[in-house]
Amino acid sequence: MESAPDFYTARALLEWQIELGATEAIGDAPVDRYALADVSPAKARAAAAVHEPIVIPAVDPVAEAREMARAAGSLEQLKVAMSDYDHCDLKKGARNLVFCDGVAGSRVMLIGEAPGREEDLQGKPFVGRAGQLLDRMLWAIGLSRAESVYITNVLPWRPPQNRDPRPDEIAMLLPFLQRHVELAKPDVLVLMGNISCDAVLGRRGITRLRGQWTEAWGKPVLPMFHPAYLLRQAGEKKKAWADLLELNAWLGESH
Ligand code: URA
Repeated sequence: MESAPDFYTARALLEWQIELGATEAIGDAPVDRYALADVSPAKARAAAAVHEPIVIPAVDPVAEAREMARAAGSLEQLKVAMSDYDHCDLKKGARNLVFCDGVAGSRVMLIGEAPGREEDLQGKPFVGRAGQLLDRMLWAIGLSRAESVYITNVLPWRPPQNRDPRPDEIAMLLPFLQRHVELAKPDVLVLMGNISCDAVLGRRGITRLRGQWTEAWGKPVLPMFHPAYLLRQAGEKKKAWADLLELNAWLGESH
């Protein structure tokens, strides 16, 4: 058993402790902290980390898109919501968000696939070669983006190398497209090509679908060939012409 230090030794120990900064007695009995289990805060945190994994709340990109789209009360707000949406990687590689062109509130709303190079540069849909053909097609039935149609795409950002949009990209951006239609309030939707039919109708096969009236989101829908396809397959233009006449006839009837 250790004997108690004599007065001088005890005083020297006390002075040494005061020099180390121990200026207050907080207990009657000394504690040998070296003998205690190591419970340093750093070690305690490390131990907790091993046993309790950090829970990162799962983000559902589609649910978040739905939420943001629903909260948008105008086309301007929808555009802001889409540019704030960070779950689609296409945004990182795109120069611009391509939201719309034409006249909001028009009876006809055209929905294309996704911006290409020119559209990405200018921030407007259908301004490249396919867009010029589209303008001529519309002009042939007395429509124009300056006066009587509203245009958007399924995706607002250009996919790299103009690859097809992936199903997950379409799914996460679809709530924005649906809200876009609600806010633009067209009488009729014209879906151009397979991607927009897939997104809006959940069906592909434009050769069968084109020219056949159907319905989506409470609106009449007319699928048509995509103008880029018509640039490659000029022989199909007569079918596109028939579809335009069908659209024109529908607009002329009272709906
Ligand atoms: N093709 C599309 O589908 N959309 C555009 O904006 C341009 C080309």
